[in-house]
Amino acid sequence: MEEYEDIITKDCEECEKISSSTLSDECINCIGAKKFKILRLKNDLFTKEYDRKRRLLAVLPFFMDVRFDHRPEKLKPKETYFLTTGARVEICESKDDVGFTYFMKIPEINVTFQELMDIKKEFEKFKETNITENEYIKKWFLGYGILEHLLRDPKVLEININPPGNKTPMRIVHADYDECVTNIYPSEDFLNYLATRLKINTGRPLNKAQPQLDGEISVGKGTKARVAAIADPFSVFGTGYSIRKHRERPWTLPLFMKNKMTNSLFAGLMSLCIAHGRTFLSAGPRGSGKTSLLGSLLLEILPKYRILTIEDTQELPINAYKKLGYDLLPLKVRSALLKEGMELPFDTGLRTSLRLGDSCLIIGEIRSKEAKVLYEAMRVGAMSNVVAGTVHSDSPYGVYDRVVNDLDVPKGSFKVTDLIIIVNQIKSTTGLTRKRRIIQVTEVLKDWQDEPKFQDLMIYDPKRDELRPTKELLNGKSILLKQIMERTRGYKGYKDIIRDIQLRGWAKEAHVKLAQDDEQLEAPYIAKANILFAKLFEHIKPLESKKKEREFVLAFQKHLKAMFDADTKLRKQQKKAEQQLKKQQEAEEKEIKKRIEQKPLSDYTGISASKSASSARLPDSTGILAQISALQTSSSLTDRMMDRLEYLTEYFKGVWSRFKTKDE
Ligand SMILES: Nc1ncnc2c1ncn2[C@@H]1O[C@H](COP(=O)(O)OP(=O)(O)OP(=O)(O)O)[C@@H](O)[C@H]1O
Ligand SMILES: [Mg+2]
Repeated sequence: MEEYEDIITKDCEECEKISSSTLSDECINCIGAKKFKILRLKNDLFTKEYDRKRRLLAVLPFFMDVRFDHRPEKLKPKETYFLTTGARVEICESKDDVGFTYFMKIPEINVTFQELMDIKKEFEKFKETNITENEYIKKWFLGYGILEHLLRDPKVLEININPPGNKTPMRIVHADYDECVTNIYPSEDFLNYLATRLKINTGRPLNKAQPQLDGEISVGKGTKARVAAIADPFSVFGTGYSIRKHRERPWTLPLFMKNKMTNSLFAGLMSLCIAHGRTFLSAGPRGSGKTSLLGSLLLEILPKYRILTIEDTQELPINAYKKLGYDLLPLKVRSALLKEGMELPFDTGLRTSLRLGDSCLIIGEIRSKEAKVLYEAMRVGAMSNVVAGTVHSDSPYGVYDRVVNDLDVPKGSFKVTDLIIIVNQIKSTTGLTRKRRIIQVTEVLKDWQDEPKFQDLMIYDPKRDELRPTKELLNGKSILLKQIMERTRGYKGYKDIIRDIQLRGWAKEAHVKLAQDDEQLEAPYIAKANILFAKLFEHIKPLESKKKEREFVLAFQKHLKAMFDADTKLRKQQKKAEQQLKKQQEAEEKEIKKRIEQKPLSDYTGISASKSASSARLPDSTGILAQISALQTSSSLTDRMMDRLEYLTEYFKGVWSRFKTKDE
């Protein structure tokens, strides 16, 4: 059988034949006897690519470091949509494979020859000055190239890029179609470029001695993603990446209840445990939703407490919590996988944080031996408030094994963990789709010496697709709840504490039902509703009698509804005001434009006799541009206002360049 090389790349810088649209005999001669699947002919402006089998030709501009597969004609798209970047996405059901293919077409592919020459000229200038206004150069040489498109697709949750370059397509996890293979093949250049950018961004190494690197990238206005890179010798074929997009806003329990990740009883139980400062770990396999769950539970801590967060890569949307008024102190520590670096080692970070006084402690991920310090601190009672974190493991025993056997925490210390919550992705019957669910809530019992004992409080029932309470939880057997009861005023018995959980759960349910749109399930509303709940609970004391409970329920509903009504009204008014402002601005702009265009050019350029009078009417170009750029630095501008200012800058530049021409 004939041997075909996957890709042959030829440097055709000196050859005129590169501009022909077919593969000439001379080209064939030049390539020689080599057989190829894909032939790439390169010069300094573009790369021409021939796909032998499918007899297709593609031309890629010089600045692109990925290549695209064509969608076979017979494969019809199941869904097509456009991104704000101008890219077109087609999702096709694979014929030979289960799953879907994500075909992307980006506008860069359609640049004309003239545009390409202009970009090249601009690029030559850029190489000397490192400054450019050209959007393609910005995107591909200063930004993240193809990731600037992929990460801006709101439906893309995860991108996996495997080496070697040019041979393996990128894969994504899509919100609606789960795992999809894409038509995008990264080149070696792309893989290397991304590694360099990550090293610069994080200040951390990625090399043979340190072949793993975790970092963060951001594209556009605020889309952030976590990147895990592995290099040789971990990764045999070269550097590979797994990129996970963060939700820009925190997840909330009502959002999780709406998408069935969990239910009101779980929300009630966790709300109670957090109110009483207990310790819990959210555990699950990779990408199961551990951190998202932890982030939603953080909102259940009342803002009056100080919260310390320790993460080696920032995953929790810290700024969002801060905006909501949480007293939050984020500490960034050196990755457990990193031997040396500028950042604090985890144990020093933790010791420092413990000295900062009584606070809640949220640990991004417990994955290093320094877990010992944390457990020691919890055991001696240094943390009297909520301590929570995530662990990579898929069962309560697995968490014990990881913490005690892998991370060296003494068995006795492990008992200070009160609850373990297991999250996982549950497959559909065909195995093709997966949904994230909380599948187990377990308490760590305290009466054991060698082997740990656990007691389930809630277990996922796959038939009902629901997390159900166990008999032990409902019938007075939970040791954790008994402990809380013993240390709290106001509970007459176990029934009262269950009633407390149910009331908290009911409040979350009421939130989901009364919310007038999905926006009202977001963090700001949860924080407000939690404060409302705590205040009314304190004031009315609903556990004292049925009558008081009814009074509490009615009061909570009334206030929550009033809050949602007022918010909806306010947002409607804001929207209306924004629309009016936009209309007004557009009208004003039109008017200015009209006036400028109606005046004779000499009026502005000083060609006419009335030179001084005209310059008084319109400031010189540098004057106006300086004013605009001063405005642009103002921090209070909205994105839309920034866009308008950019537009005006361009507009005035255009106007003055016309005057200049006239002048000359
Ligand atoms: N219930 C849910 N429904 C839909 N998407 C979810 C849900 N929970 C989490 N996600 C999304 O799933 C992705 C993975 O979540 P997350 O980062 O919390 O997982 P993880 O278990 O902490 O992963 P890792 O093991 O890498 O730390 C994120 O994009 C997150 O927004
Ligand atoms: Mg995580």
